[in-house]
Amino acid sequence: MATSHQYYTLFLFFTLLFSYSLTTISVSATTKQKQRCHPSDYKVLMQIKKSLNNPYHLASWVPKTDCCEWYCLECDEKTNRVRALTIFSGEISGQIPDAIGDLPYLDNLEFRKLSNITGSIPRSITKLKKLKFVSISWLNLTGPVPDFLSELPNLEFLELNFNQFSGSIPPSFSKFTKLGALHLDRNKLTGSIPESFGHFTGTVPDLYLSHNQLTGTIPKSFGNMDFERIDLSRNKLVGDATLLFKPNGSTQILDISRNMLEFDFSKVMFPKKSLISLDINHNKIYGSIPKDIVKIQHLQMFNASYNRLCGVIPTGGDMARFDYSTYIHNNCLCGLPLKKCT
Ligand SMILES: *[C@@H]1O[C@H](CO)[C@@H](O)[C@H](O)[C@H]1NC(C)=O
Ligand SMILES: *[C@@H]1O[C@H](CO)[C@@H](O)[C@H](O)[C@H]1NC(C)=O
Ligand SMILES: *[C@@H]1O[C@H](CO)[C@@H](O)[C@H](O)[C@H]1NC(C)=O
Ligand SMILES: *[C@@H]1O[C@H](CO)[C@@H](O)[C@H](O)[C@H]1NC(C)=O
Repeated sequence: MATSHQYYTLFLFFTLLFSYSLTTISVSATTKQKQRCHPSDYKVLMQIKKSLNNPYHLASWVPKTDCCEWYCLECDEKTNRVRALTIFSGEISGQIPDAIGDLPYLDNLEFRKLSNITGSIPRSITKLKKLKFVSISWLNLTGPVPDFLSELPNLEFLELNFNQFSGSIPPSFSKFTKLGALHLDRNKLTGSIPESFGHFTGTVPDLYLSHNQLTGTIPKSFGNMDFERIDLSRNKLVGDATLLFKPNGSTQILDISRNMLEFDFSKVMFPKKSLISLDINHNKIYGSIPKDIVKIQHLQMFNASYNRLCGVIPTGGDMARFDYSTYIHNNCLCGLPLKKCT
């Protein structure tokens, strides 16, 4: 018959054995993790941290630990090379480090919401031929939008919005063949929209150019392009925008509001199957609202206010969704939801 003392000894023995094996497992796990981070990536990351003045945001980037475990980055599961560097919302001052160009396996690069990062984008970024996703947004970058970004052949998404970029839009950006979206909105861009943007040869990107100071007319070449989403709002564009309306196109979202565009709205033909949102407010658009607007299958948003439109507001289809604010400040629109026509 075992005494309580014997039970206790047995209990102690197993406890020790258990904690010993736990230690062994965690030690070997750490050793294994240490081997994950590629030494060259490790060196570059330490350099990046230093160029950013060792910010608290990168406190997890501790020397001699496995970099693949650090915050703000991701290693590829197979190759263990750093494939994503995503620095977001931190108190970081300085410039985007040149050293980013020495992380050759990066496919995702994000510097976002870091308002004390100034300067421009280093040319070394063009070494990163695997880059697919670039978001350099909500920083305080200045100077021209670097046209060397067009040397990144595999880009699928490029977002440079909410910065202080000035100068004109690089025409070379039409060289992208896989780009799904281009966000250059909310900068201080001037000049006209490049003619070349009507000549994308592969994927036609969603185009976001709003909140800049773009001038001139919408390029004629846009007649060739079927943009699914296009936002040119809050610029200083003049002239005709009829060519953006393609009856057989697949445009879903079209925003040309707050420009100085001037054309006859009654001549426009809507992409009836695809159009979801149409904003033309604050321009000098004249003529009447085409009756065909009621045949748009899923029109969820429409704003024609602050123009020079006239005539009867068509009824039927989705038109009942829109209240008077869709039509205010026009020359002589009438009928529901405005006053009766006389
Ligand atoms: C930016 O820098 C200023 C001055 O150095 C500092 O006071 C401020 O806290 C910083 N802001 C952020 C978001 O890093
Ligand atoms: C960054 O931009 C914001 C908004 O434009 C501004 O208030 C701030 O002073 C800028 N910071 C720096 C460091 O330039
Ligand atoms: C749109 O497509 C239809 C049928 O494919 C065709 O008959 C029509 O001419 C096209 N309209 C325009 C303006 O291209
Ligand atoms: C249309 O735009 C005007 C001007 O910006 C705004 O006051 C109004 O609320 C908008 N209406 C709708 C339905 O979007």
